[in-house]
Amino acid sequence: KGFSDKMCQCPACNEYLRADHIAQDHDIPNAATLSCEELAEKICVLPCPACSKVLGKVDVFSFNLMFQTTIGPGSQRKGYLRPETAQGIFVDFGRLLRFYRDKLPFGTVQIGRSYRNEISPRQGMIRLREFTQAEAEIFVHPEMKDHPNFARYADYAFPLLTSKQQLAGQEAKTYTMKDAVDQGIIANEYVAYYLALTHELLVSVGVKPEKLRFRQHLPDERAHYAEDCWDAETLSGRFGWVETVGIADRTDYDLKAHAEQSGDSFTAYIQFDEPRREKRRVINANMGVLGPKYRGKAKAISDALQEVPPGSDGATVIIDGEEIFVPSDLYEVKEEEVDVRGVDVRPHVIEPSYGIDRMIYAVLEHSYFEEEVEGEIRKVMRFPCRIAPVQAAIFPLMARDGLDVMAKEITRTLQEQGILVEYDDSGAIGRRYRRQDEIGTPFAVTVDYDSLKDNTVTLRDRDSMQQVRVSKDQLTDLIPALIRGKSSFSSLI
Ligand code: GLY
Repeated sequence: KGFSDKMCQCPACNEYLRADHIAQDHDIPNAATLSCEELAEKICVLPCPACSKVLGKVDVFSFNLMFQTTIGPGSQRKGYLRPETAQGIFVDFGRLLRFYRDKLPFGTVQIGRSYRNEISPRQGMIRLREFTQAEAEIFVHPEMKDHPNFARYADYAFPLLTSKQQLAGQEAKTYTMKDAVDQGIIANEYVAYYLALTHELLVSVGVKPEKLRFRQHLPDERAHYAEDCWDAETLSGRFGWVETVGIADRTDYDLKAHAEQSGDSFTAYIQFDEPRREKRRVINANMGVLGPKYRGKAKAISDALQEVPPGSDGATVIIDGEEIFVPSDLYEVKEEEVDVRGVDVRPHVIEPSYGIDRMIYAVLEHSYFEEEVEGEIRKVMRFPCRIAPVQAAIFPLMARDGLDVMAKEITRTLQEQGILVEYDDSGAIGRRYRRQDEIGTPFAVTVDYDSLKDNTVTLRDRDSMQQVRVSKDQLTDLIPALIRGKSSFSSLI
């Protein structure tokens, strides 16, 4: 029900448009929460963003973003492609809980395709109708939202753009996660933990910290399920700030909805350390009177009475859709003390949701550099070593005289170390370096005629373009150490 956009069609140019975006772009307050009728009223005086003609009287309608299909051959059973991977995890809640031995908290991660019938997917990898999500659903006790490992990120600090700052037109401010939780800026430690983990992850894969911000959703922007929600936004030279990761406290919205539709409870039984003595209201129906009076419904009435708070003169229960008033002289209300050993709780869900295509796009854009070298433009992807598709390139100066044999032997040895290696013997050595720069290979090794004499090779660093002569036998330790950040190229100079 929440996966729809409010749309209209321009009567002049026939373009389909997001009605709420038109209203938002013209500073109409609470555009995201207006009904179709309210939006139609507001936007009729505004120009179409495509053709600039005033829209006039337009129909605004809800457009379901989920792709509809039918299930099975010749079947009329309606189905939908998933618009997020999350729901499959929620449906599996019972199994997952068993897997985790009935203990909270636990988490499940999934990476896969999701599908949304985007109205205008015209921004390359940023807006796709089929896209890749990596989502984690962390199931927590609803009243225990302190993360057990919060200390790991308590002092981790980065800029947060809170909803208050946005409404006041202020800039983002740097907070430690501990301060942000203590000051009530971030709803709880779980959300803060995943904000920090996401910041660390994005930076480690190559998103530039100065092109990364965490923006809290405004109250009217929050998804139908979210109590607190933050977007990790990456800055693109082409598209501006782009939502790349969403981190939300989805509360029990989803499990409750699945419980209501399926009849299963979607709860976890939490056993107390010690049984607790608790007062309980017990209603004893007078079956001697209820039986003859209500016959086959008497038992159901007695059970239903336990659930409804009785009024002073009686209680109304619903049996098979029929409302039945039971006068108070037909039952007795008592309070009993009982030992309670545990309680059923419906967990809340904290969800970090990663848009993988968008992350990759941000890394590509943030890693791409052009610079002038010896009168030519050098294009270079400055990927962190851990994500470079090729981590070391091995070149024989010439593909003969045993240079190729030695280069292939180095290639094989490094491959055995788990390093992503490419052997290349075609073209001038300078061109080979440039090719590797363009795909972001951090290190290149060249085998030349001296290598045959003294067993040394040239090791070249992508970013500084500096070269150093090292022993061939050193490479098996040195290259993995450089790639894993245990050693630095500058220390070799
Ligand atoms: N699961 C959150 C989202 O897809 O936006």
